[in-house]
Amino acid sequence: MSTEQTLFDRIGGEATFEQLVSHFYALVSVNPILRPMYPDDDFQAAAERLMLFLIQYWGGPHTYSEMRGHPRLRMRHAQFLIDSKARDAWLACMKSAVDELKIEESDRAELWNYLEMAAQSLVNTPE
Ligand code: HEM
Repeated sequence: MSTEQTLFDRIGGEATFEQLVSHFYALVSVNPILRPMYPDDDFQAAAERLMLFLIQYWGGPHTYSEMRGHPRLRMRHAQFLIDSKARDAWLACMKSAVDELKIEESDRAELWNYLEMAAQSLVNTPE
């Protein structure tokens, strides 16, 4: 049996990702830059998609791909105008949510480094 533990397991599994994403979306829902980009009637579903994606990425169940197929994040974000302001707004909401988690600092750093890199990779609109 492997003794390697995934970050998903180390930080507390699904419950921790649920907490992260629900805090994040509470902030998105009142953010003037981000709120208009998200579907009015489907906020809960959007939160679920992000949560399932992150769970899968960090070594948990692959429910995201069973439901949505290959993530193709750049393609799925192409319809939104993501400039550095939108990226920074997204990261600011995510930073507060990540900072609230009761997890090891090394895991927090690993999670945050990935999120920063991923957000940068989704910028698709130059100033
Ligand atoms: C850079 C700033 C970002 C902005 C402004 C942004 C915005 C959005 C918007 C408006 C949606 C549509 C909501 C929905 O109906 O699902 C979405 C979906 C999604 N975003 Fe982002 N996003 C950003 C960064 C990220 C990052 C860094 C990740 C992953 C680490 C991510 C993962 C996702 C996922 C998994 C979905 C659902 C895709 C699907 O299955 O349709 N996003 N994003």
